[in-house]
Amino acid sequence: MGPPGVGKGTQSKRLAEVFGFPHVSSGDLLREHLRIRTRIGCEAKDFMERGALVPDSLIGSIVIDRIASASCKTGFILDGFPRTCQQADALHSYLSELSADKTKTVCVSAVHLFVDHALLFRRLASRRVCPTCYSVYNINDRPPRVKGLCDLDSTALVTREDDRNEIVIWERIKLYEEQTLPILNYYSEKRILAEVNANYPADEVTPAILAAVRRCPQM
Ligand code: AP5
Ligand code: MG
Repeated sequence: MGPPGVGKGTQSKRLAEVFGFPHVSSGDLLREHLRIRTRIGCEAKDFMERGALVPDSLIGSIVIDRIASASCKTGFILDGFPRTCQQADALHSYLSELSADKTKTVCVSAVHLFVDHALLFRRLASRRVCPTCYSVYNINDRPPRVKGLCDLDSTALVTREDDRNEIVIWERIKLYEEQTLPILNYYSEKRILAEVNANYPADEVTPAILAAVRRCPQM
């Protein structure tokens, strides 16, 4: 968890590789619905463009269905979920169901990435993404090998709609502070919250996350 632009997507993809688990990003799942124009995508579009949170009723089942799928059987890296108390409750219910099965051991760590506000704007302004595979680049810090094209599938990179307008970015930050920061207390009280300073280059943040997660007792 962390504010927009802190590096959730960047670090989640790396952790997914380290642990061999799928990366489950609620934002990417929604953008995929938008791209293929499903009913959910059409309903989510306006919220996402305004930087508002998509209603819990819409996003909750998409994410829980995804992590309940066969590919997530041994584990998953969540990115951008939960973001509200209701989503945290939905995740908790799902994990409690899994824990009730005594043949399974369920280990959970929550990671909170924090960074100075000024860096968020700088990172979002220079972010470019692949609309096909959702790889994340940065024209300053992590440019693609060929200018403007995705390293993985050569699709032309784009700027995300919700990165174009400073008012929308402020709205995303405000909602993060109002709705998501409070649920960090829940993980902190359970003593499974790893706090990581993401003011450093991405290559330094990854080992810091791994070290913090290993220090943290697991639920
Ligand atoms: P979502 O896609 O989750 O967006 P977000 O939370 O605003 O976060 P971002 O994806 O913008 O940032 P990030 O932290 O992933 O940063 P990144 O790694 O890309 O959600 C979008 C929208 O969908 C929401 O506004 C909402 O409408 C809806 N939504 C999604 N989930 C929802 C939910 N659970 N409930 C309700 N609605 C939901 O990095 C940013 C840039 O910085 C990149 O260019 C990267 O290369 C660079 N960078 C990363 N780390 C570093 C570093 N350490 N140093 C220098 N540069 C770095
Ligand atoms: Mg992201």
